[in-house]
Amino acid sequence: MNRVPDPDRTAAGASPTTFDPLQGPLDPRTIISAYHVDLRYGNHYALRDVNLQVANGEFIFVVGPSGAGKSSLLRLLTMDEFPTEGRVIVGRFVSSRMKRSRIPLLRREIGVIFQDFRLLEDRDVFDNVAFAQMVVGVGSAEIKRNVTRVLNWVGLYHKRKQKVITLSGGEQQRVAIARAIVNSPKILLADEPTGNLDPEVSQEVIDLLFRINNAGTAVIMCTHDHIMVRQYGERVVKLEEGRITADVQRYRPQVSRKEKAVAEKAYRPHEEGAQRRQPESWERAVLDVDGGEEG
Ligand SMILES: Nc1ncnc2c1ncn2[C@@H]1O[C@H](COP(=O)(O)OP(=O)(O)OP(=O)(O)O)[C@@H](O)[C@H]1O
Ligand SMILES: [Mg+2]
Repeated sequence: MNRVPDPDRTAAGASPTTFDPLQGPLDPRTIISAYHVDLRYGNHYALRDVNLQVANGEFIFVVGPSGAGKSSLLRLLTMDEFPTEGRVIVGRFVSSRMKRSRIPLLRREIGVIFQDFRLLEDRDVFDNVAFAQMVVGVGSAEIKRNVTRVLNWVGLYHKRKQKVITLSGGEQQRVAIARAIVNSPKILLADEPTGNLDPEVSQEVIDLLFRINNAGTAVIMCTHDHIMVRQYGERVVKLEEGRITADVQRYRPQVSRKEKAVAEKAYRPHEEGAQRRQPESWERAVLDVDGGEEG
């Protein structure tokens, strides 16, 4: 009974991101869409009938118990996994017709950070960030410029020659953030980025993520930290047993213009994306993110 256009069957030349099989034409600000997505491992559903739209510049917390499918959702967005049913559209990339050879192009537009940092521990800070530029073919002079800029931005330029293993957890996560943003991604995915950090250091990390977001990058952050979600949650998506059981928009006080100007001056990932989306109506909603959760 689905009479709305299927992105796989749209006229040749039409941009797949201009159609939404559920609602017709998409909001042009949409940067990520998931349509009726199942992800199955054998008989086990990691995700079930997931529908999600993310606009350019949004900040989304993804919450839910362990095993709910949060990391699986992020792996679908980086196309490390592909839906068993349904499809995922990230920018101009459609999962159902993704060629392996195009995956590096997609990954250029996505920065990822993890709970366990995933850095090259025996290499220095500079190299860790520079590698992200090398793999996409940036020249060495430009690499030096860009790495210097992002390391200054995360406050670690003075430690650029230090081996990663000698840094604190918070510093390592800041290196990971520098690496994630050095290619100026439109999307930053953070999988429990504060999971190994104490509250004060977690706060520094979240502040950096907000500054990145304020400069126009969409941020999707999975977390078990309910205090943080309650304090900052703007849009909160809750997963339970692979299904989205809540998707609420709440009010978060906007940063001051001055703060925003400073952030944008320091970090400008992509000019056209640097406009924050303002939902039509800010509504206060109560989300029981603690309901039945662990961790
Ligand atoms: N490669 C895999 N093979 C088989 N099952 C998997 C695989 N990856 C994930 N799963 C299963 O899919 C479900 C969702 O896992 P996922 O890692 O996405 O959960 P999560 O919400 O990120 O949990 P956590 O909060 O513990 O990180 C789990 O039941 C998990 O065991
Ligand atoms: Mg996980």
